[in-house]
Amino acid sequence: MALLERSEWYDLARQTNWTPKYVTEEELFPDEMADPYHLPQEDWDAYDEPYKVAYSEYVKTQREKDAGAYSVKTALERAGYYANANPGWQSIQTLFYTAVPFIEYASGSMFGRFTRFAKGGGMRNMASFGSLDEMRHCQIQLWFGYANLKHNKQLDWAHKGCHSNNWAVIGARHTFDDIEHTRDVVSSSIMTNLAFETAFTNLQFIAFAADAAKEGDYNFSNFLQSIQTDESRHAQIAFPLVKMMVKNGKKDEAQKLIDIAFWRTWRQFAVLMGMPMDYYMPLEKRERSFKEFMEEWVVAQFERQMNDLGLDRPWYWDIFLNDLEYFHHSQALGIWLWRPTVWWNPVACVGPKEREWLEKKYPGWNDTWGTLWDTVIENLVAGHPEMTIPETLPIMCNMSQLAITGVPGKPWTLKVFTLDHEGRRYNFGTEVDRWIFQQEPDRYKRHLSAIDRYVTGVVQPQTPEGMLDYMGVLNQGGQDAYDYSWVEPYRGSPQGAE
Ligand SMILES: [Fe+2]
Ligand SMILES: [Fe+2]
Repeated sequence: MALLERSEWYDLARQTNWTPKYVTEEELFPDEMADPYHLPQEDWDAYDEPYKVAYSEYVKTQREKDAGAYSVKTALERAGYYANANPGWQSIQTLFYTAVPFIEYASGSMFGRFTRFAKGGGMRNMASFGSLDEMRHCQIQLWFGYANLKHNKQLDWAHKGCHSNNWAVIGARHTFDDIEHTRDVVSSSIMTNLAFETAFTNLQFIAFAADAAKEGDYNFSNFLQSIQTDESRHAQIAFPLVKMMVKNGKKDEAQKLIDIAFWRTWRQFAVLMGMPMDYYMPLEKRERSFKEFMEEWVVAQFERQMNDLGLDRPWYWDIFLNDLEYFHHSQALGIWLWRPTVWWNPVACVGPKEREWLEKKYPGWNDTWGTLWDTVIENLVAGHPEMTIPETLPIMCNMSQLAITGVPGKPWTLKVFTLDHEGRRYNFGTEVDRWIFQQEPDRYKRHLSAIDRYVTGVVQPQTPEGMLDYMGVLNQGGQDAYDYSWVEPYRGSPQGAE
């Protein structure tokens, strides 16, 4: 029997909806799960997905991708790649394999809800494939990470991380639960597919794949690219939705969703990607700086996309561009200092050559960050690594769940943005984080940051060891990835002159 071409049956098949007889339309698609914006059903019926695929085609392509990724993995394992990799690159892998899979899983679950509650057949269809994509991403990263467990037990965090109360996990969970798990189909799709996937996954997977290839890690590079080909397809799910929102006079609502989600994702990615690209990546292998990647993949492209969709760039764009200059540097420094609180081995890597590179890429880096690193180096040269570990806790932002950081001096950017709400004081790292809270206080007000949990006695015993235990890292926290060998050039000369 001859098979029909996809184009001959697809539109008809995916628009075959049924009219509910035993329940009302509202019961079938409750607002809080489906569409609180009440977009007209004829617009939902006209939802035209930008990318069409049938199940048989999907399976064929995905099978080929997996076959490619798994064969490179086998070859590199045979060559003992991971065990012999540069410690900085091993830390990147540990961080990536342990932080990313559960976000992929969250995306899979979100797409599952779209498959059930989206009111347009086209969107349900794309979301079904999106769900399968994300399950593949989660599984492949768990599997690739676990393959190296025999070399590094920290990789066990790939599975257990999301169940822990480590501060870094709390931050990621707060962000992605907010945008992916706790909203209706329309809001989650605009926030996740557009603000997160369209804006940031190119950076995560393409830019990083370029770095990985330079490092000689073809395994990592190859599977990252195989993931991105999925992301670029399902990230488009929100495009027709935004057009529907604009057409129906809901532009402001769509814009606000973008503004919230872009900022929330940005702050997480500044840590997840900024720190590895500018500090962990061995200097001679760096493709470009984090800021350069951001300018190309996020700033320029995202702005263009917003324009095409009839939206504006977020209201805080100037704050964001300023953040791009300093935020990830402060987080890299802070995370290295508080290394016993994380499960991977942070990289300082601020030897003379690295500092030269940072100064070139971020003019003023030495004046801004160098003096603190000088003190760290002096202590290490004097044989006192214990003096480089802080004895206090940072103040954490009640939105990003990251340490509140800034730069003293001129201009002075170190500031806590506070808000008193129903008898509780909240601390925020920026005006934008506070603004997000103010948009919907009931959504966020009960959450306790890692530090709140310590101060209010949720953590017991209320001691530094009790806190490390609560976060899952007692006696197994991160160590300097290079065992301080990067300090060698400074011995005998505080400035590191050779
Ligand atoms: Fe994914
Ligand atoms: Fe995705």
